[in-house]
Amino acid sequence: MYTPKPLDKKITLPHLQSLKQDGVKFACLTAYDYSFACLLEQAGVEVVLVGDSLGMVIQGQDTTLPVTVDDIVYHCRAVGRGLDHALLMADMPFGSINSLPQALDNATRLLKEGGAQIVKLEGGDLQLETVRLLAEHSIPVCAHLGLQPQSVHKMGGYRVQGRDADSARHMKDLALELEEAGADLMLLECVPRRLAAEITAELSIPVIGIGAGADCDGQILVLQDMLGITPGRPPSFSRNFNDGSPSLRAAVEAYVAAVKNGDFPGPDQGFD
Ligand code: KIV
Repeated sequence: MYTPKPLDKKITLPHLQSLKQDGVKFACLTAYDYSFACLLEQAGVEVVLVGDSLGMVIQGQDTTLPVTVDDIVYHCRAVGRGLDHALLMADMPFGSINSLPQALDNATRLLKEGGAQIVKLEGGDLQLETVRLLAEHSIPVCAHLGLQPQSVHKMGGYRVQGRDADSARHMKDLALELEEAGADLMLLECVPRRLAAEITAELSIPVIGIGAGADCDGQILVLQDMLGITPGRPPSFSRNFNDGSPSLRAAVEAYVAAVKNGDFPGPDQGFD
């Protein structure tokens, strides 16, 4: 049984890999500022993502699309100042990977100027080539499959992905190709739990889930969702850990413990 404690060792990609091998779950959250970064680190969150969700929860935009590379760099610098041990991941926002040279320049900026240790990218056909190129340039990369919020207009809304046999097969194949191309991590968003479990078992890299069931190697939520402060209706796959909690730190510690003890996500937070 896990009991809450601050991180006491540097979280690296090989460390996450060893957690996968040992069957130990790891906890990830988004953050966008210094104060919360310090709190997450104290609460034992292993991976902190400066997500383009900042467009919605920080800037009040309707979608993630207006977020710029400058925005991500700015928030990464603030978050990075609060982290001594956790791995800092930065999202590549919409429009930042429209060509391979542009993707390389922008990913380089996120590491050089933002201080990120790994970048995460969505994307269609170009995702594979982009992952390969970044890997060739020693830029750690997390691929992102399933629901891709940057494609909201193309998808006509935010929907669970991979529900039919063809799209499930396609997602599995693409996940394997992305790993082969050099992805270091895989994030699955809004994917039926069985499919996510199969992909997690087939890949040798760690898989982080959000709305993807309990069998992924790690879990992530948007900070505002798990604190219950997102304006409007929270996503069905989230849980409010702040409800009845004595402090924000205790809420985040409860999330980390629930992930590590296998209590989150539960049967109500996922899709069949
Ligand atoms: O931008 C973000 O916060 C994300 C999470 C939903 C994983 O990509």
